[in-house]
Amino acid sequence: MAEIQLSLSVLLPILLLLYFLKLLWSRRHYPPGPLAFPIIGGLWRIAFEKGLDGTTPIKAAKQYGNVFTFWLGNFPMVILSGFDAVKEGLVDHSEELLDRRATPFFEKITQGKGVGFASGHAWKQQRRLSQMALAKLGVGKKTMEDRIEDEAQQLVEIFASEKGKPFDPALIITNSVSNVATSLIFGYRWSIEDPTFKKLVKSIEYILSYGLTIFALLYELFPSIMDHLPGPHKKAFESAEVLLSLSKEELRKHKEQEPTQEPRDFIDYFLLEMEKEKNKNDPTSALDEENLIHSIYDIHFAGLETTTTVMKWAVLILANRPDVQDKIIKKIEDVVGSSNICYDDHKKMPYTHAVVHEIQRYRYPIIMGVSRKTTTDVHMRGYIIPKGTFIAPNIRSALIDDEYWETPNKFNPNHFLDKDGNFVARKEFLGFSTGPRSCLGENVARMELFIFLTRLLRVFRFQPPPGVKEFTEEPARGITLPPRPYKVCAIPRNS
Ligand code: HEM
Repeated sequence: MAEIQLSLSVLLPILLLLYFLKLLWSRRHYPPGPLAFPIIGGLWRIAFEKGLDGTTPIKAAKQYGNVFTFWLGNFPMVILSGFDAVKEGLVDHSEELLDRRATPFFEKITQGKGVGFASGHAWKQQRRLSQMALAKLGVGKKTMEDRIEDEAQQLVEIFASEKGKPFDPALIITNSVSNVATSLIFGYRWSIEDPTFKKLVKSIEYILSYGLTIFALLYELFPSIMDHLPGPHKKAFESAEVLLSLSKEELRKHKEQEPTQEPRDFIDYFLLEMEKEKNKNDPTSALDEENLIHSIYDIHFAGLETTTTVMKWAVLILANRPDVQDKIIKKIEDVVGSSNICYDDHKKMPYTHAVVHEIQRYRYPIIMGVSRKTTTDVHMRGYIIPKGTFIAPNIRSALIDDEYWETPNKFNPNHFLDKDGNFVARKEFLGFSTGPRSCLGENVARMELFIFLTRLLRVFRFQPPPGVKEFTEEPARGITLPPRPYKVCAIPRNS
């Protein structure tokens, strides 16, 4: 018995060492990165950094280079960092990086369906359909701008009801941003008190906070084991199901309505296109109900957390900078006087347009970007990244790349202005990503941010509550990086 124990205690470390060396050898073609151990991969690095935040992958790139590998347990994630590497991946290798890949948790929720997570032909078909739907539904009786203006009006009314006292604007902003999407997708908006809306917000909050727990990490490492164990991951899946069942319910209601030839919203549009495809008898068509349910989910939620986070930062950043608010107001008065502001006015308000861009650059809402998958072996910077590899373009790193931005870590609207005060569209601004798979809702988001902000600033001056000199601009930790909860005073300008 003692002999067996002795042989085991000698053999086991040798076997582990051999296994470790085999892993190192099999990984030699991947770009370098934090040393990857069996089972945990490079996760020790996150523990070493005392958790994951926006700076963790940027620090790693400084050490290993702008194309590096991070081993999430046994599966490699190649991270592209800095403007040059991100652009090289998303533009120069756009076809090879066109497919989407999610981590096991999101893979289970999305099932590779819908416009945001499908790949190949299914993605192309849904992307084309969604672009056409957004264009078609954005014109006609109620344009996209009308929908956004309605919500801007609600924002103004609710902010006014606070009568200059400190209040947390988070839920109100979420409601307005969500309503722009729901009026487009479902054909209606919901009040801030609506129980379904409240349930939805709670579900999103749960998923986002779950993303930071040890259980989330364990799920990504051992999904098939974790699927059989209880824990917060189960509640996170239930929360995702709340969001998906909303899509299912809306689809059911639409199918019960009288068929229409003129689509009223995104669901109508998709159903009509589905019908046309059925008549073509194309067996490769991806226009089915499952993809519709996931596309509804994608369009609603891809825009919700991102746009809401930028808006929350906008209010906070402006409250910290009364001089920037004054400058915006002066420009508004010069350009439109007391008339209504429309989105087209951004061309005559370069300073305001620059401020909106700078807010999104300076406090980017996503921790890195949205991941892709290589469709073939990719030759990049001397490395061969095998087909099927998870690629994470770090958009945040491009937005604070010190080779391109004069003051990367400082709020500075001059990043987007020339010496005569004209707006300069910077190619390094990858706020909505770049290439054929860039953000589908870029125009909607740009319009929302401009109209919401100018409408609010015209009526209110934002400032921190009495006793607070300045809000912290340190983001909260998470998958998205919102500001820490705050209360702001919206002081009516005419008071
Ligand atoms: C400030 C707000 C927003 C930001 C920062 C943002 C950012 C992004 C980013 C970085 C991607 C990944 C692109 C890639 O893989 O290269 C993306 C994709 C996407 N966004 Fe946005 N987004 C915003 C608002 C919106 C809005 C309002 C909508 C909907 C109306 C939307 C819908 C989508 C969809 C559907 C995708 C997936 C596109 C695809 O895979 O083909 N986004 N967004």
